Amino acid sequence: MILSQHKKTSFVVGLFAAGLLLLMASYRNIGDPGQFKNLKVLPQDISKDSLHDLMDGYNEALGVKCGFCHAPKSNGERGMDFASDAKKEKGFARHMITMTQNINKNDFNFANSSRPDTINVVTCGTCHRGEKEPSAFVAPEKDEKKGVSSMVYPNKFEPK
Ligand code: HEC
Ligand code: HEC
Repeated sequence: MILSQHKKTSFVVGLFAAGLLLLMASYRNIGDPGQFKNLKVLPQDISKDSLHDLMDGYNEALGVKCGFCHAPKSNGERGMDFASDAKKEKGFARHMITMTQNINKNDFNFANSSRPDTINVVTCGTCHRGEKEPSAFVAPEKDEKKGVSSMVYPNKFEPK
């Protein structure tokens, strides 16, 4: 009697555990957490849509295609191995992502947001303007009298 009671209990516990596992599995599909294999700077629970929007944004900001940062599959199959770290550009991009996040968090977090990771004042495009390596700043031609630089450096920066 005691034994069968014990069996009953473990059956119920087992059923409960199985249900919980199933629930966790389906939740995983909805929320997409952990579907990407090799995120080191972006949030682990980022949704597929958000990740792809970000990646499209990198393409536009730098004027490149996905293959600028991502290596082709090494097994000869077509397509890219997005999780691979084989291209140095991907590593550089990680550095740039962290830098951009820090600028926003530290220098534009005026309201002391509780989600500083969502502040987006400075973006890749702010500097890159559609180029892989942002070109040096060239001051636009200034009106003879209004040019700030001609006020500070009258000889050196006299507009032509
Ligand atoms: C400027 C460089 C750059 C470009 C261009 C770029 N990516 Fe990425 N991508 C990254 C970096 C960096 C990561 C890793 C982020 C991290 O470590 O958190 C990444 C991660 C990913 C991942 C997640 C892989 C995994 O499982 O860990 C996918 C998928 C992906 N990129 C797809 C794309 C697609 C599709 C494009 C083109 C539309 C693209 N990327 C363009 C830099 C780039
Ligand atoms: C504050 C300005 C600034 C911001 C913001 C910025 N970058 Fe850059 N990035 C640069 C500069 C400048 C270089 C060139 C560095 C060099 O040549 O040594 C560069 C270089 C790079 C390179 C290397 C290019 C190459 O030819 O190998 C990648 C990749 C890159 N940035 C990705 C990004 C991504 C992705 C973002 C947004 C998450 C971003 N950058 C945001 C200024 C910026």
